[in-house]
Amino acid sequence: MNDRLHYTLQVADWHDLNALRQIEKDCFGDQSWTLLDLIGVLTISGMVRIKAMHAGEMIGFSAAEPKASENIAWISTIGVLPAYRRRGVAAALLAACEARVSMPRMRLCVRASNWSALRLYEAKGYLRIGVWQDYYKNGEDALVLEKQL
Ligand SMILES: CC(C)(COP(=O)(O)OP(=O)(O)OC[C@H]1O[C@@H](n2cnc3c(N)ncnc32)[C@H](O)[C@@H]1OP(=O)(O)O)[C@@H](O)C(=O)NCCC(=O)NCCS
Repeated sequence: MNDRLHYTLQVADWHDLNALRQIEKDCFGDQSWTLLDLIGVLTISGMVRIKAMHAGEMIGFSAAEPKASENIAWISTIGVLPAYRRRGVAAALLAACEARVSMPRMRLCVRASNWSALRLYEAKGYLRIGVWQDYYKNGEDALVLEKQL
């Protein structure tokens, strides 16, 4: 698809729980967060939560958590519905989180095998700074990336 996708970025809140559950299922399948995790990401104080909306539907979501004690914010999650990928939505969600965290650095972790997410992060200026070995349930490593904001 080459036609321009019209979407808006908006702040998300707990009213978006059902839509976020669908995004989580479509993006992460059996590795989805639990309902409690999703309620947490939509309600924990201080979190930055951004949704991408197209034709009344949530098509993407990202959240970031500023950690004042570390002077770093962490991307908690980012996902875009498969039908809307490669249209710049994740890049826009990431940029919106970066703009709102009021921290000098953003970090995130990603499965070593998640090459599409790695391409996104590296294209947007994130650098690999470490590895958490055996981080995921299946024993896969997490790569830790950081960007100076
Ligand atoms: C990773 C993900 C969020 C990317 O969303 P997206 O909206 O398709 O990403 P964008 O269109 O904003 O991509 C921006 C850039 O990232 C890179 N990129 C993103 N997806 C890519 C892919 N599948 N292959 C290669 N490069 C990719 C490209 O550089 C792209 O720019 P380009 O399209 O001009 O080449 C999406 O694939 C997704 O939801 N995946 C499942 C959930 C997930 O893995 N989340 C990350 C957890 S750490």
